Amino acid sequence: MAGLARWGPLIVASAPAKVILFGEHAVVFGEPAIAAAVDLRVHVGWAPSQGGASTVNGYPLTDQHHAFMVNALRLAGVEGDVTMTSASDVPSASGLGSSAALTVASVAAGLASRSVIQHPLDAAARETIGPLAYEAEWLAQGGSGSPTDTTTCTLGGGVLVDSVAGAGHVRAVTRGERTWHLHGLDIPSDWSLVIGNTGERGRTADQVARVGRLVRRRAFARETVGDIGALVRQARKAVQAADAGKVGALMDRNHNLLAILGVSTKRLDRYVEVARRSALGAKLTGSGGGGCMIALTRDPARTAADLARVGAVTHVVRLGAEGVRMEPDSAMAASDVDDRLL
Ligand code: PMV
Repeated sequence: MAGLARWGPLIVASAPAKVILFGEHAVVFGEPAIAAAVDLRVHVGWAPSQGGASTVNGYPLTDQHHAFMVNALRLAGVEGDVTMTSASDVPSASGLGSSAALTVASVAAGLASRSVIQHPLDAAARETIGPLAYEAEWLAQGGSGSPTDTTTCTLGGGVLVDSVAGAGHVRAVTRGERTWHLHGLDIPSDWSLVIGNTGERGRTADQVARVGRLVRRRAFARETVGDIGALVRQARKAVQAADAGKVGALMDRNHNLLAILGVSTKRLDRYVEVARRSALGAKLTGSGGGGCMIALTRDPARTAADLARVGAVTHVVRLGAEGVRMEPDSAMAASDVDDRLL
């Protein structure tokens, strides 16, 4: 790894990956979605520049290559050159919110470098980080996307995004004609999820643009978005009732509706089919076009083994991980640092 900060970062923040349990894509059009943080994390380190130019993992930090981090630092009010590092357990461009987690952790590190927030982060600090991270992500994605990912990576736990405010309301976000109400949602902590990564890379902005075109032009796509919304409303009740069987069945249906919108792939369909042999339900997660699928299962070892047998890279994760947090500066050893995200 070229040119790592010689003394390591002085400030380290981390944020979790997320999975969308229900409602991806439809949420962009005002339908509800349910997401949950999972225990895979992105770490971001900040130190003042040591060489008179901004770097990340030893490479020049540029708008062109690191738009999420550059926007995050700018919006966090960071001025002058910086030496950034990043390390991640989260595969990038795979629907697990790696860009959102990177953005959230970068905002937190940037704000902490200015002493605007302190360790340990409280609700007020998260309230400062969340909107800035969404703005940074939105700009980096060319002005598209909902606040689902950045909110989940910031708050942790479970999150319901809806067009109306209800129990557990945290705040509202408006972009143009769209207002999203963000809520905390308790997810049963004993639910196991297996993530199956196809290794195919889908770009969120491309997938969102593709679905957007379809929805503008075709009535069936608008109906499908509405069907997903109705399904998410049922799923919310099933999650609150801790009815894993029902949640699994609704995941199966959500996958089929996403396939109608054209965001599944042959490999995602295959993994979903294989997982369903042992799982309560399975679906693609995130923007699709590759990336990951998730399976809710009572037998994670078997579901993961079945998926691995057909070529998936698997992770067994716990739902409802902690949101953004400050870490001791020793949390990111030079050996952890990688540039896969960048
Ligand atoms: O693929 P991801 O993790 O970036 O998830 C995107 C979720 C979408 O609903 C497709 C877009 C959005 O901004 O909500």
